[in-house]
Amino acid sequence: MDEEAQARVDVWKYAYGFDTMRVVKCMIELRLPDVLENHGRPMTLSELSSAVGCPETSLHRILRFLTHIGIFKKLASSTEDPASVLYAQTPLSRLLTRENMGPFMLVQAGPPGQQFGLSADDLRAGKGSGREAAPSENIIWTQEIDDAYDKMFQEFLASHARASTKAIIDYCPEAFEGIGRLVDVGGHEGTAVGMLVKAFPSLKGINFDRPEVVSAAPTVDGVEHVGGDMFQSVPKADAVMLMKCKEAVPADTGKVIIVDVVIDEEGGDEYTGARLAMDMVIMSSTVNGKERTVKEWGQLLDAAGFSRHTIKHMKAIESVIEAYP
Ligand SMILES: C[S@@+](CC[C@H](N)C(=O)[O-])C[C@H]1O[C@@H](n2cnc3c(N)ncnc32)[C@H](O)[C@@H]1O
Repeated sequence: MDEEAQARVDVWKYAYGFDTMRVVKCMIELRLPDVLENHGRPMTLSELSSAVGCPETSLHRILRFLTHIGIFKKLASSTEDPASVLYAQTPLSRLLTRENMGPFMLVQAGPPGQQFGLSADDLRAGKGSGREAAPSENIIWTQEIDDAYDKMFQEFLASHARASTKAIIDYCPEAFEGIGRLVDVGGHEGTAVGMLVKAFPSLKGINFDRPEVVSAAPTVDGVEHVGGDMFQSVPKADAVMLMKCKEAVPADTGKVIIVDVVIDEEGGDEYTGARLAMDMVIMSSTVNGKERTVKEWGQLLDAAGFSRHTIKHMKAIESVIEAYP
């Protein structure tokens, strides 16, 4: 891998370094290493879930991340049944029991009240398992936050849009061939659609976001800002970026382009760690949010009534999913 490509991979490791520590802290609070140690042999997800008192769905996500970073290991099961997969200790997880370095790590994580993210109590109460509040209550976008943090958050969104849109232009330009009107749903200040219109001059760009976001957004060349609620309706176009948009595109020629993380549970590439870490961030910062596997994207798109879809991976944490009505 050349130096620049390696830097693009490494930057995600730094970006998610803090989150890795939060998940490790939460795992020690749940006493996962102690449970496996006391059991004396590898355990299934269901056994671990009853032992630590948190739902299998969220525990699976935590273990998926922790096995990826080498804290636990998964033993190949003799059947295809995911329920028979066994989780085992490694020398590293043995060091993280309460008799070893576990308490030291918990103190390093800081005093109560100065921590955020995941806690064992959150997980036991159902966080990340899909059984908490309804999605309509899952709105981090309407929370009151202080101005300084808000400014930083807006800059964070714009920098994310720049990085992922560059990857789309470099690695997946064919998704935009022959498109006239393109709506970016939840496009924030129009950074992504502005870059796309510049790269693909046939596009007519519409940036769709909440009214208060688009009214404060700067003018972007070639882009019309439209305010609204994506859960109600989105502007009509030849192609729509994101979701819930089947009705907005023509049934015969239209498509929805989703630029999002696709988790690879088997194999993977140099960005797999960053994708799994992103799932941990989403788990700690939203009510029911999650990153989806290939299979889960398929189920979601089928349920939303799309007839078929394709997934193209890029050298980025996101992939491009094209879904057809
Ligand atoms: C994670 S940001 C994504 C920004 C940009 N698409 C990117 O990938 O960098 C989600 C955006 O969705 C917008 N949003 C949230 N709820 C919305 C709703 N109900 N209708 C329209 N936009 C919404 C937010 O204001 C925010 O700008």
